[in-house]
Amino acid sequence: MSVRVPAKVNLQLSVGPLRPDGFHSLATVFQAVSLHDVVTITPSGDWRVVPAGPLKHKVPTDSTNLALRAAQAVMDRYELEEDPLEITISKDIPVAGGMAGGSADAAATIVACDALWELDLEPDEMAELAAGLGSDVAFALIGGNALGTGRGEQLVPVLARHRTFHWVFAMSNRGLSTPAVFSECDRMRVAEAGPHGATSHPEPEADPNVLSALRSGVPEELAAALTNDLQNAAFSLRPDLEKLLDAGLALGALGGTVSGSGPTLAFLVPDRAAALDLSVGLTATGLADEVRWATGPVPGAHVVTGYGLG
Ligand code: C5P
Repeated sequence: MSVRVPAKVNLQLSVGPLRPDGFHSLATVFQAVSLHDVVTITPSGDWRVVPAGPLKHKVPTDSTNLALRAAQAVMDRYELEEDPLEITISKDIPVAGGMAGGSADAAATIVACDALWELDLEPDEMAELAAGLGSDVAFALIGGNALGTGRGEQLVPVLARHRTFHWVFAMSNRGLSTPAVFSECDRMRVAEAGPHGATSHPEPEADPNVLSALRSGVPEELAAALTNDLQNAAFSLRPDLEKLLDAGLALGALGGTVSGSGPTLAFLVPDRAAALDLSVGLTATGLADEVRWATGPVPGAHVVTGYGLG
């Protein structure tokens, strides 16, 4: 059973206060983009992760692998007595890149287990399992454009004009730790507020500019509306990323943002030709380890048939 699952970019990422459970409340608008992993599960004698695809050397094969944890969570939740699984992850989404690569694999595994074990899970049940695994997993199930609140796992689809946006992603071989970037954001806020400043940040809300840009489908509008509260924290930990953002904008991107907690940078361009031009230009700067182009929105995790044949 094979499931294809997309990466995500955050069009808005507004970070609120730190909650007692250690997560921050968020208001974030996700868009699923056309960089995909494919997760294939096969009943086997024991639990195993088999890395494959262009980024296979980045896939953890131990118990920290979120796909493995997802399969075991499905089995535990429904008290199944199925054979263990061999989970092959064909990886094309950057790892620790801010594009929800590990979360995508977990979402794909939930969909694959549902199909293989004929569980017929309702979307709500899948979303609940997903939320137990990570804040971004539920979005990878639905794809498209969606507003995430809570810690990012409470989702509502965003009404959008049927329109394809063109993206260029500038990637870095060195990942950034999501908890480290959130902590840096907190640290910078305290430092900026000074000794008498406000200690808590307000609850974040959906940005009307982002929602309206998705409704109009005009890339220039969306480019102007991109925001990410984690961007300065990512720059603080990785000053080279700010240079990369400036380079992309100087090369003609309509807009750019750190994707999630970084280090991937996402640039919005008007069309495919501009995406190719920017990809070539950014590659030539030598500031990015890899440059890819993609489109969004695309659908969430879905079963693919005939994968790997021929
Ligand atoms: O949910 P996920 O496993 O993706 O989160 C990884 C880490 O990122 C959390 O342990 C937390 O430190 C941070 N995080 C956060 N607030 C969120 C989402 C993630 O502080 N809403």
